[in-house]
Amino acid sequence: MAVGVFDSGLGGLTVLNALEKRLPDVPFVYFGDNKHAPYGVRDADDVYNLTTAAVERLWEAGCDLVILACNTASAAALRRMQESWIPREKRVLGVFVPLIEALTERQWGDNSPPREVAVKHVALFATPATVRSRAFQRELAFRAIGVDVEAQACGGVVDAIEEGDMILAEALVRSHVEALQRKMPSPDAAILGCTHYPIMEEVFQDALGADVKVFSQANIVAESFADYLARRPEFIGSGTQSMFLTTGDPKKVSARATQFMRRKVEFQSA
Ligand code: DGL
Repeated sequence: MAVGVFDSGLGGLTVLNALEKRLPDVPFVYFGDNKHAPYGVRDADDVYNLTTAAVERLWEAGCDLVILACNTASAAALRRMQESWIPREKRVLGVFVPLIEALTERQWGDNSPPREVAVKHVALFATPATVRSRAFQRELAFRAIGVDVEAQACGGVVDAIEEGDMILAEALVRSHVEALQRKMPSPDAAILGCTHYPIMEEVFQDALGADVKVFSQANIVAESFADYLARRPEFIGSGTQSMFLTTGDPKKVSARATQFMRRKVEFQSA
């Protein structure tokens, strides 16, 4: 019984970390498409082709259920995958909807009409492809009314994190927060809409100020997934071993992952 966790690179480890804590008995197979990261500057067809190839590899590893721990893939490819590509006996879940449900104070799958919620001015930080997709605004509009969203495409941040250049990543985060604040001076909430960004969460919070509530995905997704698995246990696949797969250089990727996870992580070639 294994569950697949996919990201373009190392960002999905933030989600994996929370999943492992919440579901310690479930083996997870992580797939980082580090060779092709960042996805955030690719077009939707490209993201779709890369994501479906990675998900097929996770199915091969015995994971009937795959979590796309990547907002860019969730925003640019998931709907198309669900409409025509995923076989009946498999499931692929995104990370976007649980986050929006948390922001709009909803339980999983609550599809009641949109209503007023506590937050009124929301800053969205995400990759250029996620911002361009407008998936966040679309999903939010199904659930909430009267929420003003200002999106900031955070070019360069994923590349800097993948390269382990945390000084550059911090400088870029601060400049993206400033750019956002020029458009929306006082957001009351901020969404870290890329799974790489929780690695920089303290910098986002510091630059935004203590009054801004920062929503990041790891724990929200882990909670919502635990709930899903309790209702649909049949989707735990046949795999029995946790593993880390990468399309990149396993040595380099393992070193960075070990740094981010603060424990030894060993990737093997996908
Ligand atoms: N972690 C991915 C996300 O959540 C990063 C995408 C990228 O590779 O640009 O969007």
